Amino acid sequence: MSMTPETLVEVHDLNFSYDRRPILKGVHMTMQRGQVVAIMGGSGSGKTTLLRLISGAIKPTSGYVRFAGEVVHELNRDALFKLRRKMGMLFQFGALFTDLSVFDNVAFQMREHTNLPESMIRDLVLMKLHAVGLRGAHHLMPNALSGGMARRVALARSIALDPMLIMYDEPFTGLDPISLSVIGNLIRRLSDALGMTSIVVTHDVQESLKIVDYVYFIADGVIAAQGTPQEVRQSVAPFVHQFVHGEEDGPVPFHYPAQSYSRDLDLEDSIA
Ligand SMILES: Nc1ncnc2c1ncn2[C@@H]1O[C@H](COP(=O)(O)OP(=O)(O)OP(=O)(O)O)[C@@H](O)[C@H]1O
Ligand SMILES: [Mg+2]
Repeated sequence: MSMTPETLVEVHDLNFSYDRRPILKGVHMTMQRGQVVAIMGGSGSGKTTLLRLISGAIKPTSGYVRFAGEVVHELNRDALFKLRRKMGMLFQFGALFTDLSVFDNVAFQMREHTNLPESMIRDLVLMKLHAVGLRGAHHLMPNALSGGMARRVALARSIALDPMLIMYDEPFTGLDPISLSVIGNLIRRLSDALGMTSIVVTHDVQESLKIVDYVYFIADGVIAAQGTPQEVRQSVAPFVHQFVHGEEDGPVPFHYPAQSYSRDLDLEDSIA
């Protein structure tokens, strides 16, 4: 896959195993600057693992992730630390610091990673909160926020350092349809306004098709399908169809791989 000047993230023939169990098997992806890209796939298909590989939290078995021209797994600790400052992350189940106000949650990384004077941090924090519509809530403690508001604060926090890339792991989970669409639109707007590339890992096909430029489907460790939202909607591939129409069983199996059920039951018998 060629690296154009506009490419921010290149995933090249990426392989990763946990304890010799292959999770990703030769994954290729390209993400351009300013793009919003969705990664979809069944539970346990390796989506969070992929984000961790991109951020350098874990190293590939083979292949590489190139971010802003640098091969992530080849960087030493200091270089990786610097690179991470260019990435924002909204983790799956990521929570706010409950003992810090909304303001201090957003200010946290700025105070940690920069030497900016407090007056400037104040302006920046209010700007980030304004971007997510919560400037007026800066003094609140997290327990005074609704789930949707908390998610928006987490979003403001993840863009605190003006990252080039922001990775969202399941940003829509547990939100009502209105908050969900607010978050979706925010992700799109922030990418457009700040020129950030966004990766959205999500099960929410309908919402993400409204906001993304491109979709990758992962199954069995490989990219099973990919395309623009329009291509995805029109796709007749059974795998894509199953996702877009939310069918429980199909090419994506309902069951985690297991030995045969009868063998499992026999095993229990012999233990009893
Ligand atoms: N630290 C770990 N050690 C061993 N196996 C792991 C570890 N973390 C994840 N796995 C396994 O790797 C596979 C991929 O996990 P991952 O969390 O990337 O899936 P996912 O696509 O994010 O799933 P979900 O949609 O449920 O969040 C799963 O089978 C999981 O059991
Ligand atoms: Mg996950």
